[in-house]
Amino acid sequence: MSKGFTLWFTGMSGAGKSTLANLVAEELRARGHRVEVLDGDEIRTHLSKGLGFSKEDRDTNIRRIGYVAKLLSRNGVVAISAAISPYRDVRDELRREHQRFFEVYMNCTIEKLSARDVKGLYKKALAGEIKNFTGVSDPYEAPHSPELVLDSGTESVEESYQKLIRRLEEVGYINPAGGAR
Ligand code: ADX
Repeated sequence: MSKGFTLWFTGMSGAGKSTLANLVAEELRARGHRVEVLDGDEIRTHLSKGLGFSKEDRDTNIRRIGYVAKLLSRNGVVAISAAISPYRDVRDELRREHQRFFEVYMNCTIEKLSARDVKGLYKKALAGEIKNFTGVSDPYEAPHSPELVLDSGTESVEESYQKLIRRLEEVGYINPAGGAR
């Protein structure tokens, strides 16, 4: 059985965390891994229902996701988190609690994110209709030394995806394509 690990995406809303998380999940399942995706939006309708976006509530949300990811990953599952997780100290706390933690920073400028604005949230946030919006009226602290940085503002989803898979192969966290268990 292959070993589990936690694949932790961090980055602002719309930077491509969920898209990449789901693509990687599909590929890893095809390579014989057991995988769970812990998606920010979805976690907030179940595990973190009722939490808001203050620092305290975000920290609680992230610690809960981190805790579940730790349980899964130590039992052979690849746990993938796709929450914004804007605060560096809490991400680093989770890293310390994990045996195998791979942090991916989805880097994208606020200009690009608000131009794209898939969910229409940046428009509202910039108009002051959503308070404490990450990157607009609330902090986002980029990681100092993530395992990987992906520039989702300039590279295609396919390019980011290929870089990530290659890196995970290089560190020996994932099975080779079409490969052995
Ligand atoms: S986190 O900060 O606690 O990691 P999480 O990833 O769970 O955030 O939730 C982010 C999602 O909630 C965004 O993609 C967006 O759809 C929605 N959202 C609603 N309000 C906010 C806000 N104030 N800041 C950021 N995202 C928000």
